[in-house]
Amino acid sequence: MPIRPDLPPEPDIGASLEPAHPSPETLRLLALRRSTPVAALTGPGPSAEDLDAMLRLAMRVPDHRKLEPWRVLIIEGDARIKLGEVFAAARRLRDPDVSDEKLAAEMLLPMRAPVILCVISSPTHDPKKTPIWEQQLSAGALCQNLLIASQAMGWAGVWITEDAAYDGHVHAALGLNAHEQIAGFIYLGAATNPPVERQRPTVSAKATRWTG
Ligand SMILES: Cc1cc2nc3c(=O)[nH]c(=O)nc-3n(C[C@H](O)[C@H](O)[C@H](O)COP(=O)(O)O)c2cc1C
Repeated sequence: MPIRPDLPPEPDIGASLEPAHPSPETLRLLALRRSTPVAALTGPGPSAEDLDAMLRLAMRVPDHRKLEPWRVLIIEGDARIKLGEVFAAARRLRDPDVSDEKLAAEMLLPMRAPVILCVISSPTHDPKKTPIWEQQLSAGALCQNLLIASQAMGWAGVWITEDAAYDGHVHAALGLNAHEQIAGFIYLGAATNPPVERQRPTVSAKATRWTG
């Protein structure tokens, strides 16, 4: 059940902040967090107020040299129909022999959830100082922050890319500049079915102590 976010006001620049925030609720969310498959999303979706709050939270992301190397397109309502037309046109350009049935399915992709946040990695033209890679990592962190913030507010969601994220026609239609890329489409809504636990790696398989 979505909750109305009760956020503290944005601190003044230079205000002293807590270095840690012991929070059992946050630990519980991380321990049990799962994405909801896009096919299991439906309405309703986050309100404008919810979106404003989750974007504000998500943008509190690590960002080397404060370059803000990302931006977000909010796609909801009838804009999803237009995005579906863009996806279908892109599919036809990629695959001129595509069937009408597949084009119709492509057109419906954005209708799978009421709200889509398109996170755009937008690195600055100053790669000598902050490597592009670090700027792209910041965009990825923003995507994850969005998932966590939206789920903490009670919304189901998933971070996907699919072919559309890498398609030049889609980039042009969404107004991406040449140096920009789509970090992800964050589909948000309510879940028709609860997600189920999946296999995760053990800590020992992925984390080892380096001792020199
Ligand atoms: C950059 C990126 C792109 C992804 N693209 C897709 C995608 O196109 N389709 C898909 O089914 N899952 C995609 N995923 C995976 C899902 O977001 C999700 O992580 C996965 O279903 C596992 O669920 P979990 O987040 O609960 O572990 C992508 C993940 C990342 C990080």
